[in-house]
Formats: sequence, structure tokens, C-alpha cells
Amino acid sequence: MYRAAHQLLDRPPVFTDPLALKIVGSDAERGLRSGEDRHALPAAAPMRAFMAARSRFTEDCLAEAIGRGVEQYIVLGAGLDTFAYRGTYDPAHLRVFEVDHPTTQIWKRVRLAEAAIPVPNSVTYAPIDFERETLAEGLAGTGFDLGEPALFAWLGVVPYLTREAIMAMLALVAGKLTRGTEIVFDYPEPTESISPRQRKVVAARVAAVGEPVKTAFVPSELGKALRALPFSDVQDLDARTLNALYFSGRSDGLALRALRHRREGRPDPGRSGSELRRDPRAHPADRGQGAR
Ligand SMILES: C[S@@+](CC[C@H](N)C(=O)[O-])C[C@H]1O[C@@H](n2cnc3c(N)ncnc32)[C@H](O)[C@@H]1O
Repeated sequence: MYRAAHQLLDRPPVFTDPLALKIVGSDAERGLRSGEDRHALPAAAPMRAFMAARSRFTEDCLAEAIGRGVEQYIVLGAGLDTFAYRGTYDPAHLRVFEVDHPTTQIWKRVRLAEAAIPVPNSVTYAPIDFERETLAEGLAGTGFDLGEPALFAWLGVVPYLTREAIMAMLALVAGKLTRGTEIVFDYPEPTESISPRQRKVVAARVAAVGEPVKTAFVPSELGKALRALPFSDVQDLDARTLNALYFSGRSDGLALRALRHRREGRPDPGRSGSELRRDPRAHPADRGQGAR
């Protein structure tokens, strides 16, 4: 919904998604256009900025990866992500694997059908509960090639998983997959590390979403854990960096609230094993943890 609202309200969009409105459906679109839907409220602008920035950053990473010859894109916890359906890639050179909770995946496929959005042959669905199955199990039989590099996107999912499930996923990406593989994900910081004022903002956001945050990470500790897996390079983009990257010079003032950080990783060619090329630690502004 935030991505859909971004298409309608924010000019120019930082993230262009011609299917974002279509996939949410006409009732939702009406709510956004009337301004009644909460995602369209002025107060939701920083969250729209965050959602737009994390998707834009990920697809910028994907474009770079494709340029390097990567032909596998895995969207973990895909939700209503529309990349696979926008026709912006060559299906002969990119396979998209949408990995999601079975219930969400069924719902999405119904949404796609209702919105008359065609599903290209290059898309493969893998239903997985990250808490119960490993990614390797979920991808078995899908044609995903463990021996070829891939870009993984994992946006808006980490906050809802247990630490064990998160670390198991990251260990698999770091340890079992081939060099040149990278992952982009966002995560919340513990509320103890932010100011009381920021904590109030976070609490309001959490209440608005209604789903509890299960896991948060202290950035320095997560960075250490990622390197130990081993990811050869880890980078962190905070809100200020993302604002400078994507929101500078706007007349509408759209920007992320400078509560938090993002992290981005690049591979160290000297290291063996899989590489975290990019690991954005983004602020899930919906769950919002603040920056210190
Ligand atoms: C907030 S949505 C994010 C969707 C999308 N990545 C985006 O950026 O808009 C969270 C996604 O995480 C998925 N998810 C949450 N818990 C999961 C689990 N245990 N196993 C698999 N997917 C899960 C949900 O199905 C949903 O697609």
C-alpha cells in the first residue's frame, strides 16, 4: 500500500512501480485517491519514503548484478512485490524466484489473477515458512542453481522472524551459495538504543501495523555476526545516506525520517565462500526503530 500511495502522491516517484496500484485493487486505490487511507496521509510520508527507498535500492542492486551476469533473483517474503511482472527484464537472462509464506503466496496469486496481471514463465513460486523449513528445502526442485550467483532481496521480513530463523537464512546465503551472491535486507534496532522521543514514534508505528516485532539487532553486533558467517563485506546505509542518495533536491520535502540506518555490503574478492555484496540494513519505518 505504501508503494501504491507513493506512485499516486509523491512526484517524482523515487521508485516507479506501474503495477503497485493495480495489484492492491480498485477499492484500495479509491481509498488512496480520496486521501482517506492512512497510507496517503501526510504523516505517512516518511514511511512511503522508506518503502520507496528500500525497493529502489534493491532494484538498483539488481540492475548492477544483472550487469555482472547474475541471472537469478530471489525475492524472499515477496508479498505484493511486482518486479517479476513489470516486463523490465529479459526473461531469457533472469529467473525470478518468489519465496513466501504459503498463505501469502496464495493470496498474492489471487490478487494477480483478479488484477489481470500476467505471470511470466520466468517466475517460479516457492512456498516456505521460514520458521519451519530451510531455504534450501524450499528451493529444491525449483530449478534454482546453487552453483550460480544470485541476488536475494529480503525486505520487510526480518522483523517478524525469530533470530534463529534469520541467522539460519543468512548462514545459508553466506556459507552454501556461490561467490558473487549478495543479499539486501532491512531490520529494526532495539528500542533501548533510541531516544525516548524516537521510541514514541516507533511505538506509534508498531501500533499502526499491529504485528509485533520479534527480532531487532544492534548494528555493530549484526555486522560482526555477518562477517563471521562469513559475508566478506557489509555496508550500512543510514537514513541520512539514503536521503542523500534518493531524496535530495526535492521540492516536496519527501525523505526518510532520520531515525535509523541502512547497511550495504560489497564483496571482498579475496575471501572464499559466498559474499554479501549488499546488505542494506534499512529502517523498517513501519516497525520503526530509531537510530542512536
Ligand atoms: C511486510 S511484508 C513485506 C513484503 C515485501 N517484501 C515488501 O517489501 O513489500 C512481510 C512478508 O514476509 C512474509 N513472512 C513473514 N513471516 C514469514 C515466514 N515465517 N515465512 C515466510 N514468509 C514470511 C510475509 O508472507 C510477507 O510476504
